[in-house]
Amino acid sequence: MNSELIDIREAIEHKLDELLPKESLIAQKLVDAMRYATLTGGKRIRPMLLCASCTGFGGTLEQALVPACAIELIHTYSLIHDDLPSMDNDDLRHGKPATHIAFGEPIAILTGDALQALAFDLLAGPHTEIPGSARIESIRLLSQGAGWNGMVGGQLLDLQSENQTLTLEQLRRLHEAKTGALITAAIQIGVAIAGTAEKKTIRTIDTFARKIGLAFQIVDDILDESESTTVLGKPANSDTELNKSTFPKLLGIQPSKKFAEQLVEEAVQLLAAENLKNSLLVDLAKICVQRRY
Ligand code: IPE
Ligand code: IPE
Ligand code: MG
Ligand code: MG
Ligand code: MG
Repeated sequence: MNSELIDIREAIEHKLDELLPKESLIAQKLVDAMRYATLTGGKRIRPMLLCASCTGFGGTLEQALVPACAIELIHTYSLIHDDLPSMDNDDLRHGKPATHIAFGEPIAILTGDALQALAFDLLAGPHTEIPGSARIESIRLLSQGAGWNGMVGGQLLDLQSENQTLTLEQLRRLHEAKTGALITAAIQIGVAIAGTAEKKTIRTIDTFARKIGLAFQIVDDILDESESTTVLGKPANSDTELNKSTFPKLLGIQPSKKFAEQLVEEAVQLLAAENLKNSLLVDLAKICVQRRY
């Protein structure tokens, strides 16, 4: 990863640490679990994408950092709930006991709820450096990416897809919702905060985001089958055990890999075709498919 992205990731880590509560007079365990789940091990792809799209369109890193943390909190909440016994029943995350193993199931559920609420609190303000209209737009974009027609809707499709054979189109829709929607929201929020892009450019960026979001989940499916638990920091072969609908199951590993690479190539070409120079977004798009975990 290039040094600019490493610096951005470090800034995100610091900001998350600063923004997460440390003490609570009413529920210390909740605060402990929020920090436990959030502060170790994530790749921070979504917040880095948000920062890259914001700075690429003329915004500043300072403007991007709080919204970037908000999206990571939503992502962390989604992982905590995803690992629960009633969902994927995985007991390892980021190389440590999953939140429900470390703190118990009721606290894990509430920790996800609390992270989600904190995310919207952070987006609402007060940041004098982001105009009110862009704040409202970012709240709308995050709600849509996270909600019934985005990540949460996709998670239901995912559960319903166990022991089923989906068509390619159905599987694409599932992946675009459960994972693509939040990745798309990250990029859209960055653009909205910068506030300079025209409608046509926003449409191009949306298509770019949808392509890399889908590619990201295809690669996640591939890694589930091809990497070890140690490298992943989460249980390998979890999808196979639950007989989930995945790209490798439907197409095979190599064709799935090709498809993901092709999606990212198309995404990068889209930016080039419109002369949108954003090397950080291009680097992050490549990381989405070239990663090992
Ligand atoms: C894992 O996402 C869950 C998916 C939506 C594929 P990441 O691979 O981004 O998770 P971390 O935060 O980096 O561990
Ligand atoms: C999860 O997909 C997507 C979410 C919205 C959390 P997975 O169930 O494949 O994610 P991992 O493999 O457990 O990280
Ligand atoms: Mg899952
Ligand atoms: Mg899972
Ligand atoms: Mg997975």
